[in-house]
Amino acid sequence: MIDLRSDTVTRPTPAMRRAMAEAEVGDAVLGDDPTVLALERRVAEVLGKEAAVYLPSGTMTNQVAIRAHTEPGDEILIEAQAHSYFLESGAPAALSGVMCRLLAGDRGRFTAHEVRAALRPRNLHFPVTKLVCVENTHNRGGGSVWPLAQVAEVARAARDAGLKMHLDGARLWNASVAAGVPERDYARHFDSVSVCFSKGLGAPVGSALAGTAAFIARARRFAKMFGGMMRQAGIIAAGALWALDHHRERLAEDHANARRLAEGIAATPGLHIDPATVETNIVIFRTAAMPAADLVARLQKAGVAVLATGPDAIRAVTHLDVTAAQVEEAIAALRKAMGG
Ligand SMILES: Cc1ncc(COP(=O)(O)O)c(C=O)c1O
Repeated sequence: MIDLRSDTVTRPTPAMRRAMAEAEVGDAVLGDDPTVLALERRVAEVLGKEAAVYLPSGTMTNQVAIRAHTEPGDEILIEAQAHSYFLESGAPAALSGVMCRLLAGDRGRFTAHEVRAALRPRNLHFPVTKLVCVENTHNRGGGSVWPLAQVAEVARAARDAGLKMHLDGARLWNASVAAGVPERDYARHFDSVSVCFSKGLGAPVGSALAGTAAFIARARRFAKMFGGMMRQAGIIAAGALWALDHHRERLAEDHANARRLAEGIAATPGLHIDPATVETNIVIFRTAAMPAADLVARLQKAGVAVLATGPDAIRAVTHLDVTAAQVEEAIAALRKAMGG
């Protein structure tokens, strides 16, 4: 099976498994798991932040951040297709009691002008706006990358209004490789940054939230409350640490494979995509000739797994376990499934 459903489907490499098997562990809740501590220090260093906390998932790091930046009844500004709003089970409402004010954006990216237009005067009738959330790369935007200058402008607008900035950087690694911008240069515009090890980096479990030492201390309290503090987590943190140190630069291969896949799709009658919009490892294309669900089923039979993300939209994601040769096989299977 060529599994293009997501970059979360990767299996740990033999070297990563060895690192995990040999990991020194302690009790991470009591603060003495050396591998978790090493991972948290390394993440903080890569992102140029004072501190970080290792947690089970990207959903948890995002939602802990939202909770730690706000109080119930506050409002956050977030793009309408953002993972934290669209794909996290209503968590901002359920766990933080906040209102989400949606920004329209363009393939997930919005402007400082949109932030300023959403600001409210201080008035008894309004919720208090506290936070702006950015997602980079943007999942439902097709892996789109934020230009650094646009992040800086949004951050300035937020700061001028006294708002905090949170980055959902589940795929910040991909954004950095694609844009040639070090992670810390993006991160310095944010009060908190969430990163995932279980997506493009290929680790089996986990995400980290980074920020000031005071913010991370507050975040740890909510992480405990949400059930996210783990005990001998060094076993899985070792996989994350291995991925961080060995699998970042190779993301360029995934991006080249995704671009090639998009070109093959664009050349297949009945399928639509502009390959120039594929900036990283996510390829979202449209099916004009048959419903997306039918094409997904045909491809499945041919040994290629993809996801329908709408009635006529399909997502394919390249990753550590997909080779350039398998991308060619997937293109051939697509052509055949479309009757070519
Ligand atoms: C942009 C983004 N943020 C957050 C998440 C959530 O990560 P997790 O599945 O680890 O909760 C995902 C998952 O795909 C994502 O794409």
